[in-house]
Amino acid sequence: MAFYVTTPIYYVNAAPHLGHAYTALGADVLARHMRQRGEDVFFLTGTDEHGEPVALAAEREGITPQALVDRNAPRFQALMPRLNVSNDFFVRTSDPEHKRRVQEVLGRIRENGHVYKGKYEGWYCPRCADFKTDAEQGPDHTCPIHLIELIREEEENYFFALSAFQDDLERLYAERPDFVLPRHRFNEARAFIAGGLQDVSLSRANLTWGVTVPWDPAHVFYVWFDALLNYYTALGYAREGDDLTDRFWPATYHLIGKDILKFHTVFWPAMLMAAGLPLPKHVFVHGFLLMRDASGDEHKMSKSLGNVLDPFQVIDEFGTDALRYYCLREVSFGHDGAVSTAGFAARYEGELANELGNLITRTLAMVVRYRDGDVPAAQPDPVLAAELDPLAVEVARLLDGAELSAALDTAWLGVRRLNRYVEERAPWVLAKDAALSEELDVVLASLVEGLRVMSVLLHPWLPETSGRVLGALGAPELDLTGARLQAGRVAHVERLSPPFPKADAVPARR
Ligand code: MSP
Repeated sequence: MAFYVTTPIYYVNAAPHLGHAYTALGADVLARHMRQRGEDVFFLTGTDEHGEPVALAAEREGITPQALVDRNAPRFQALMPRLNVSNDFFVRTSDPEHKRRVQEVLGRIRENGHVYKGKYEGWYCPRCADFKTDAEQGPDHTCPIHLIELIREEEENYFFALSAFQDDLERLYAERPDFVLPRHRFNEARAFIAGGLQDVSLSRANLTWGVTVPWDPAHVFYVWFDALLNYYTALGYAREGDDLTDRFWPATYHLIGKDILKFHTVFWPAMLMAAGLPLPKHVFVHGFLLMRDASGDEHKMSKSLGNVLDPFQVIDEFGTDALRYYCLREVSFGHDGAVSTAGFAARYEGELANELGNLITRTLAMVVRYRDGDVPAAQPDPVLAAELDPLAVEVARLLDGAELSAALDTAWLGVRRLNRYVEERAPWVLAKDAALSEELDVVLASLVEGLRVMSVLLHPWLPETSGRVLGALGAPELDLTGARLQAGRVAHVERLSPPFPKADAVPARR
């Protein structure tokens, strides 16, 4: 089955930070897991390059907007391999193919009678690139997200008749309780719609950096309409000579942060309806990674607030897997949560090094020590198998609902179970008594299989570690059907150096 997952496309006027990495990591976990299930996966991420903030930043630097985006987009592009993110394409909204398709789809929306010309007056945040209703403003016409003054804007432009989709959107939410996940975000979107929809500005007249409105070239499309369409346009040109639209549209999951809920859960389905296109199956809204400041208050991480944790630096010191694991384990996907260097140090040492790292190194070391690396041809312990085998089904069930943290917690139960098994069966005691040799065979074979199963299950979160362990076991297969204890899958193992060395470099220790 086709599985199409997307991240928001990132504004290029800021440097990539952990908040951006977070959505990309979430999408990568889903993409990798679905590939393990043999699904036909397409994973899209990219950059959002038009709009006023980019035009203004370029002006300040005295360069063209194109030069600015050509300089900044590669930073986001480079972030993906650094995070071990396996996106199938990287869309840039300045791609000519994207622009052409935006014009096509919005032209169709106009032909279908959903666009009219009118006068716009309202309060605008140039950083959000969004007009704020009274309810969305902070005190004295400020932006509650960026804490800056809003600008009073007035201009002639084209409108998208969003209000005409009031009933259709209400019906969508009545019929599809899983259109938006998790539930509290579904309720938020539905409440926004129930509050009554107003038509929205579709174009800007006093801006040139954007996709030209084909029926009135004095206008460019409002950046959000251009940006949202990336999910659809990219399929048309991601593979030269092969239009993937029919194969992958509609998207299975759009993953987004809670800050852009309105655009994805209200504007976007209405736009698709207006264009006569099928709607995505789910929009999953995750929370914010927050940073604690010196006074203990929690803030959204953002360049403009100056409290950014640099993902590149974390990766350099502790490796990609540690960052992936920490973000998705520490903060329950779908809720806000604080990240900190102390929290990172605790999970790195307590869980990655002491639990998983130890399990890996001691299992392999014991097989090498007691059996010269040859895995005994014994049936794995049925009691252990009965506990570990159901994990794959449970992980798959949770990931079907994009419950990334709950799925990781579930997989981790297996790591803990295996560590308890080592303590309960104490192979070092069995090894002292030749009469217990068969028992030791069963314990070692069970541990090796357990380790293999855990490496398959944990692959989406820890692809590098999983690959190293499966390499040491000579069993690289990742398919999820193999995630159950079997006899004879692994013949011989090699030792591994500790995958999560207890470096003195752990930040809290410095
Ligand atoms: N360009 C728009 C999205 C257009 S999608 C058609 C945009 N870009 S953004 O770069 O400002 O933010 C994109 C996404 O980054 C957010 O929705 C969210 O997914 C992620 N995050 C940015 N900061 C974040 C945190 N502090 N925490 C978690 N994720 C956040 O909005």
